[in-house]
Amino acid sequence: MDNNELKKKIIELKEKRNAVIVAHNYQVDEVQEIADVVGDSFALSKYCASVDINTIVFCGVHFMAESAKILSPEKTVLLPEIDAGCPMADMVTAEGLIEMRKRHPGAVVVCYINSSAEVKAESDICCTSSNAIDIVKKIKEKDIIFAPDQNLANFVAKQVPDKNIIPWNGFCITHHKIKAEDVLKIKEIYKDSLLLVHPECKPEIVELADFAGSTKQIIDYATESKHENFIIGTEMGVLFKLKKQNPNKTFYLMSQGLLCPNMKKTSLQSVYNSLNDMKYEINVDEDIRVRAKNALDRMLELS
Ligand code: 13P
Ligand code: SF4
Repeated sequence: MDNNELKKKIIELKEKRNAVIVAHNYQVDEVQEIADVVGDSFALSKYCASVDINTIVFCGVHFMAESAKILSPEKTVLLPEIDAGCPMADMVTAEGLIEMRKRHPGAVVVCYINSSAEVKAESDICCTSSNAIDIVKKIKEKDIIFAPDQNLANFVAKQVPDKNIIPWNGFCITHHKIKAEDVLKIKEIYKDSLLLVHPECKPEIVELADFAGSTKQIIDYATESKHENFIIGTEMGVLFKLKKQNPNKTFYLMSQGLLCPNMKKTSLQSVYNSLNDMKYEINVDEDIRVRAKNALDRMLELS
């Protein structure tokens, strides 16, 4: 089937299954095109928690679909590509976090949504890149264990200096490898451009940026700005919405290496297969789900 036929079939199947398709901002263009909602991790988890429909096809990576299931156990949550994981989420385990908590008694554990259900279950509160600063500001304790992203932890620590942020040592394989010298070179080439980056980049890159925020915040910033040229420091999937919403503005990618291989696994064919065969269904052990939901609920309450 070609893409047009696939799109037609997906729409038919979606109606038949009473399903909704949600896609993260890093998905390939054609998947973003057929999705009912495209957004960042926070917007998508909020949407999935509130939408009154029984099947969610989550075009993203595993922890995102799992978060949707944690929040809405009565819904069927499908991940079209079962191997689409997030290496950063795999860098922290529940056991590791329990050990760290023992070493820092009294510290509050904040976990980035890029984490497994087991890790969320051992955490006090969850956050995403769009609300991490606000969440940390609202915690009354001074000592905060922040897992798994060391770069987001560092970003939050700089913005909320009165807290003692104790970072886990995880990182995003896509954002963390970008080098400051390469960013300086591209800034030199596109002198009149604003640099917008994701806080999963290293601190020295965030320091060179005009703005750091979640994928949605980057898209909103560029859309609302009077500026016309931007260097984009996050995964290339965001260019789809950026260009669509801003046809007269110019966007340069900070590095050609800004590609998340896991986000790129989902295709129109896999979305079609997902709806046709009702696969791959995400399930979470009930005891873990209930404890993980506490961390996500606290985030939704405070955001
Ligand atoms: P957002 O919170 O901006 O959606 O980012 C998620 C992510 O995985 C970034 O790499
Ligand atoms: Fe995980 Fe990085 Fe991919 Fe985001 S871009 S899903 S943090 S590997």
